[in-house]
Amino acid sequence: MERPAWAPRSIDISVPSVSRIYDYYLGGSHNFEVDREAARKAMEFMPGLPKIMQANRAFMRRAVRFAAEEGITQFLDIGSGIPTFGNVHEVAQAAVPGARVLYVDHDPVAVAHSQAVLRGNEAVDVVAADLCKPQEILSSPGRERLIDLNRPVAVLLVAILHFVEDVDDPYGAVAELREALAPGSLLILTHASYEGIPLPPERAEGVVDVYRDIRNPLIMRSRDEIARFFEGYDMVEPGLVPMPHWRPESAPEDEDPYAFSGFAGVGRTA
Ligand SMILES: C[S@@+](CC[C@H](N)C(=O)[O-])C[C@H]1O[C@@H](n2cnc3c(N)ncnc32)[C@H](O)[C@@H]1O
Repeated sequence: MERPAWAPRSIDISVPSVSRIYDYYLGGSHNFEVDREAARKAMEFMPGLPKIMQANRAFMRRAVRFAAEEGITQFLDIGSGIPTFGNVHEVAQAAVPGARVLYVDHDPVAVAHSQAVLRGNEAVDVVAADLCKPQEILSSPGRERLIDLNRPVAVLLVAILHFVEDVDDPYGAVAELREALAPGSLLILTHASYEGIPLPPERAEGVVDVYRDIRNPLIMRSRDEIARFFEGYDMVEPGLVPMPHWRPESAPEDEDPYAFSGFAGVGRTA
């Protein structure tokens, strides 16, 4: 298989990746046949997967606009993925010219493509780092240049925590990030769950098996388990809800039933 210019030499292009599978669901072009094959297999169990991803992106954009309305001008987007239509910096900078955004991802394709898209935009940068090592994110030169921790920050953990197993202590990582934030900061989060999926869990489990097979386990958590990530935050109205119900801009009833899978919420540090 020929390696396209956007694929860093370091990656094994015969192994599917979470970020490239997601890119495929969203209609992007930064994916390989192995990624498309895994995505199609997952969609055999859950045909509405792309609808879930679209609802996730739509929530993210509403939450970034909400943060901008709250006066937040700096954004830390961890697990930012391969840039696609309506990225955080585009939404944030449309609302607040000069808004600063630091993207973080551990996937080399996501990082390389972000670098290419962001060239020339001085207020935005990308760092290759792991959510499970918050100190590496917090002490990175990109963070020091762009994000002032003495002022409120919006931290985005959008569709990432369901790729972090309990043994890697996701709750500890989220708490460590919170401790570094100034009062008035926001946590913007979405997470997959069996709750809300318009299918019996046995069938939805087929998707979990696909991710297990590619060695990137997908951890479905209950609403209560997801709510625990907001420990130390006050929930912003309407709380932790299915994605289309978080401050909708159009009638949520018009959404595809799959869009109501999983949960979204925003918390504010006191
Ligand atoms: C499903 S994509 C979500 C992208 C974007 N946040 C969105 O919601 O549109 C998940 C991203 O999280 C990244 N990721 C997963 N685990 C990570 C970790 N431990 N540290 C950093 N990034 C991670 C993956 O590489 C992938 O790009």
